Amino acid sequence: MLNDPQALNDQYALTRGLTFSPGNGGLTRAVIDTDACRAEVYLHGGHVTRWKPAGHDEVLWLSQHAVFDGQKAIRGGIPVCFPWFANNKPVDRPDAPAHGYARTQRWGVLETNETDGQIQLTLGTTINDYALSYRIGFGRELDLALTVTNRAGTEQTFEEALHTYFTVSQIRRIMLTGLEGAQYLHTVAGANTLHTEGDSPITFTAETDRVYRSAQNVVLHDPDLQRTIHIEKSNSDSTVVWNPWIDKAKAMSDFGEDEWPGMVCIESANITPNTVTLAPGATHTMTTTVRVDTPA
Ligand code: BG6
Repeated sequence: MLNDPQALNDQYALTRGLTFSPGNGGLTRAVIDTDACRAEVYLHGGHVTRWKPAGHDEVLWLSQHAVFDGQKAIRGGIPVCFPWFANNKPVDRPDAPAHGYARTQRWGVLETNETDGQIQLTLGTTINDYALSYRIGFGRELDLALTVTNRAGTEQTFEEALHTYFTVSQIRRIMLTGLEGAQYLHTVAGANTLHTEGDSPITFTAETDRVYRSAQNVVLHDPDLQRTIHIEKSNSDSTVVWNPWIDKAKAMSDFGEDEWPGMVCIESANITPNTVTLAPGATHTMTTTVRVDTPA
């Protein structure tokens, strides 16, 4: 697996806007710079950290305190959670990390290309008996497709999430639509209670940590930033909505105490009871497209 930026450039750079270079902490990253957008992806974690479509401000949130040491998961951007979500780890592996292994291991570059003005970068890695391929399309939209193949001789079941952190003007002033009527697991402060979302847009007044059982698309309305973010997905039967609020933000060393009002996570996912089971050799692809527009 190539890691040296020069060697990666020799094989995969695209003259129309994709190069590799050392980023924060000297970690290797892909930099996308085209008329349509600017973006960055670290090979550590297969982690998209920036995406700024032309004519808009930065869409993804990245903590000022994020650690780039090649060990810890990067706080912000789009961590990939796999093969489990949160602490739903196997009972025989109590010391295994939250959100699985994908976000802390180094991914390799499988392919780069350009079609119809969109730059595409495909990363790959293996985790246990799974092969992962992650195709990321950079343009005025951000297109994410995570493909998992079961390479074991037996059936396997996993969870996954594209744990996307969005920059918002002020958490108290945004609204989410699209999850009306969906059941959700409320997990704040150790609770594990099932609720049903009402018909009103979702607003935020306290720590929020919910796993919605919903395949619906979500719209993030942010009138103060004069933008609407559309999150459209396929093969994803769960959506996580998270803001840590004051105390939980304070408890995280890589999350500034004053940063929590400026972000929200909206994560396309498949989480218990919506796990994915694959027969030997079978493949599953979950996709998410993020699009920004300015409401009239
Ligand atoms: C969210 C979970 O997706 O990720 C939260 O719903 C969790 O419970 C958060 O706190 C951050 O997790 P981590 O492991 O990156 O601190």
